[in-house]
Amino acid sequence: MRFQDKTVIITGAAGGIGQTLVELFASEGACVMAADYQAQSLQDLGSKWQAKGYKVAIQVTDLAHKQDCEKLVLACVKVYGGIDILLNNAGIIPRGTILETTDEMWFSAMNVNLNAVFFLCRATIPYMQRAGAGAIVNTSSVWGTEPGPAHVAYCTSKGALACLTRNLAVDHAPDNIRINAVCPNEVNTPMIRTGFAKRGLDPDEGISQLNQSVPIGRIAEPQDIADVIAFLASDAARYMCGAVVPVTGAKPVYG
Ligand SMILES: NC(=O)c1ccc[n+]([C@@H]2O[C@H](COP(=O)([O-])OP(=O)(O)OC[C@H]3O[C@@H](n4cnc5c(N)ncnc54)[C@H](O)[C@@H]3O)[C@@H](O)[C@H]2O)c1
Repeated sequence: MRFQDKTVIITGAAGGIGQTLVELFASEGACVMAADYQAQSLQDLGSKWQAKGYKVAIQVTDLAHKQDCEKLVLACVKVYGGIDILLNNAGIIPRGTILETTDEMWFSAMNVNLNAVFFLCRATIPYMQRAGAGAIVNTSSVWGTEPGPAHVAYCTSKGALACLTRNLAVDHAPDNIRINAVCPNEVNTPMIRTGFAKRGLDPDEGISQLNQSVPIGRIAEPQDIADVIAFLASDAARYMCGAVVPVTGAKPVYG
């Protein structure tokens, strides 16, 4: 029970990694504030989690809007009295080269993958300062540190997120707030499966081909990433600040 009575905000809670994070933290005693903009899914999941006896509150949140980000932090403080851990997990992946990237794709990627993290951290850190401790884990991507082809908005937003993580870590380590990031390569979630479907490929077939490209023999499952995020959020990672941790099964972006 590493997270007994710890208050945790989890964004993208209705997604592949997000649902796994909620289960993991709630099953280890956390009080979770789960946020997503898929209102119906979030409500259905919220009922499922509560039926299991987990302490999970939900807040429908569109991270593309600053007011929603700030409301999420206030809702967590109102329900639980503070915030110990912030998991900035939500993300979107507009696909395309610069010539294929519309203004809308660019600004959406920046709003959800980067600006929301800025707004959530800015609103959360004062509560952590007052409490004298806190942990934030951001989900970047290996494509943020080593950009892959034809995803210019995604890679740029995730690269900036890795940089933001290191900046905040330096500024807030003296407050005993540890800020780190994970950088997964491919993970078996709707994000990657819908990409195959959009290109007219069978998602299971796509995943089994991708599995062959990973030295460890398979792409990541959501649990593989959630376990690293939980470690970074836990006291076992007490000396880790500003780490941008690749979680890749040894698969490089190139080579
Ligand atoms: N799946 C991968 O291969 C992969 C690889 C590297 C990094 N990541 C990162 O992992 C994180 C989790 O992704 P996932 O694979 O679970 O994807 P997912 O698509 O299953 O989940 C993402 C969740 O974010 C939510 N979301 C999107 N836009 C939102 C908004 N405006 N407001 C609120 N919620 C919003 C979605 O509704 C969804 O529930 C993302 O940051 C993603 O970039 C994923």
